[in-house]
Amino acid sequence: MFSFNIDPAASKAELYAEMLKAADALTEGETDGVANMANIASLLWQFLPNLNWAGFYRMGRNVAGEDELVLGPFQGKAACIRIPLDKGVCGAAARSGKAQLVDEVHAFPGHIACDADSRSELVVPVSRGGTVIAVIDLDSPVPARFDDSDAAGIAALATLLSDRI
Ligand code: SME
Repeated sequence: MFSFNIDPAASKAELYAEMLKAADALTEGETDGVANMANIASLLWQFLPNLNWAGFYRMGRNVAGEDELVLGPFQGKAACIRIPLDKGVCGAAARSGKAQLVDEVHAFPGHIACDADSRSELVVPVSRGGTVIAVIDLDSPVPARFDDSDAAGIAALATLLSDRI
């Protein structure tokens, strides 16, 4: 059993520092990427308030052999399985290799509504050797839920996971 001390009064920086320690401890030495992504999705869900979806899309291929995102381990409602790289917030993050912080998803051209409750979203690419291998996707029912400290915290997590998923 794993249980974590999550202080509801902690600052975002403290929360991310604690989550990163837990993520390191849970994934260190484990070579199964799916198991690691599953546990990290659970950590995101437990540590971060006001989320309605948290998880991974992995870089895969469509039938034409082109890069496409494919649903990975997550917490939240069942979601879209495949996302072409020219679609949605996740596609933009995977295509550009840059984090996407969206205060109001209804204003984002091409946003894919997997859960009608989502209002804001943060998507951070996970890269290995300069290639995007997955994205971490967080959705919130609260507009402008995410800020630069969330983006920095999730970027640190993405760096940790680079060779663990
Ligand atoms: N909203 C995302 C799709 C994934 S779901 O939010 C889980 C997007 O626009 O890429």
